[in-house]
Amino acid sequence: MNKIKFVYRNQIKEIDFDSSPFTPNTTLLQFLRSESGSKGTKEGCNEGDCGACSVVLIEKVNGKLTYRAVNSCVMFLPSAHGKQILTIEDLGTTENLHPIQEIFVKEHASQCGFCTPGFIMSLFAQKAQKTDSSKEELIEAIEGNLCRCTGYRPIVVAAEDLAKIQDISYFETYTRQDLIDKIDKKETIIIKKDNYEYYIPFSLNDALRLKKEHQDAIISSGGTDLVLRVTKKKMPIHKIIDITMIDEIKGFRKDHTNLCIGAGTKIEDVYQITKKDIPALSQMLSLFGSKQIRNRASIGGNIATASPIGDTLPVLIALKAKLVLSAINTERIKTIENFIQGYRKTDLMSDELIKELILPLPEENTITKSYKISKRTHLDISTVSAGFSLKLDKGKVSEIILAYGGMAEMPKRATDTETFLQGKEWNEKNILEATKILKKEFTPLSDARSSSEARTIMAKNLLIKFFEETKK
Ligand code: FES
Ligand code: FES
Repeated sequence: MNKIKFVYRNQIKEIDFDSSPFTPNTTLLQFLRSESGSKGTKEGCNEGDCGACSVVLIEKVNGKLTYRAVNSCVMFLPSAHGKQILTIEDLGTTENLHPIQEIFVKEHASQCGFCTPGFIMSLFAQKAQKTDSSKEELIEAIEGNLCRCTGYRPIVVAAEDLAKIQDISYFETYTRQDLIDKIDKKETIIIKKDNYEYYIPFSLNDALRLKKEHQDAIISSGGTDLVLRVTKKKMPIHKIIDITMIDEIKGFRKDHTNLCIGAGTKIEDVYQITKKDIPALSQMLSLFGSKQIRNRASIGGNIATASPIGDTLPVLIALKAKLVLSAINTERIKTIENFIQGYRKTDLMSDELIKELILPLPEENTITKSYKISKRTHLDISTVSAGFSLKLDKGKVSEIILAYGGMAEMPKRATDTETFLQGKEWNEKNILEATKILKKEFTPLSDARSSSEARTIMAKNLLIKFFEETKK
């Protein structure tokens, strides 16, 4: 009890919360910055936005090793249990640089160097996970890393050079699977210190038992949003159940009609899994945070936050997605549309967890699209987002779903507009009439991101864009 173990600097590191200064609310970054000789991992924004704190997590998930770059500032330290943590200090030394570091020197891809460890670790993880990564994949891997002085061209050239390296040993030799395997991942980890409690179950049943027992606990399914309550809002979280280590709620299965994805599956994996079958969702996920955030955040966690401006909900409503909600010995299925009940309010009972997301595979004659409007393309919160689905029968609308985010206190369908369009010709005249109804359906807020009026115009323009992209 009160201990976690992870692989760090080629040995098993044990943190005993009784004798260390750390609490369950300590972040991985705070731990790293407290270690002597480990200051290469930088603190920039401390909110998952700049990538300066990027480290590599090596983890066994359902028996397979995975390499992921994550922002250590948005990860609670206990969540490091059972993993290997690689930081810039593990790679090269000044006398003996790692090939990625050599490339950065050769291409002049670093000036002050503050951001450089983060870039190197993001590229390392991508190459270790997929040795034949294309230059596009490597560039995508650093979309969450900001540099204030070099300018991105030399960094992009460095990523292009890295795509040509074929020698796997540059990446695999750092893996200490022997040590990872020695760490127990069966018995629920319990940490109790001062007035903090942190639980890490390794099975869904154990998690459900804990949830029933501790109904006041906050569930962490990645924590990229949750950690900010502690670090930015300065609101300690006293009781956490961390469900990130339950392998049985990760992964996917597909049959003729549905793609079912475990709620604990990382957003990055859902992005990859849905590319072929459900492009409207994967397209939206390509704009979700950065790769480091997608590597930690889970699809179930994102849905459970029920954010009115969350990226996934409008498109999931348009896709008629459902959730499997589990409690001890019971399960029920609920559509996402009915699951979201108000501002950050869901139908999840106090003893339930989201187990699985059911995505009906799109029917041949149905078009589904997603849109996100934000101030910049990547790493930004949406101002207005939308998920639209349309079924036409001989040029007439036989079914339509127009779901919007950012227009109300929760993601919502424009039901009056849908009713107007139902059975009508899918033509410009009807769409322009529909936009007049749409204008009256929502009274969005004015806030730092946009005025109410601009949001209303964006919602209208997205419908017109959808029409332009789908008209015959
Ligand atoms: Fe900026 Fe962590 S410090 S992402
Ligand atoms: Fe200075 Fe990137 S080299 S911030």
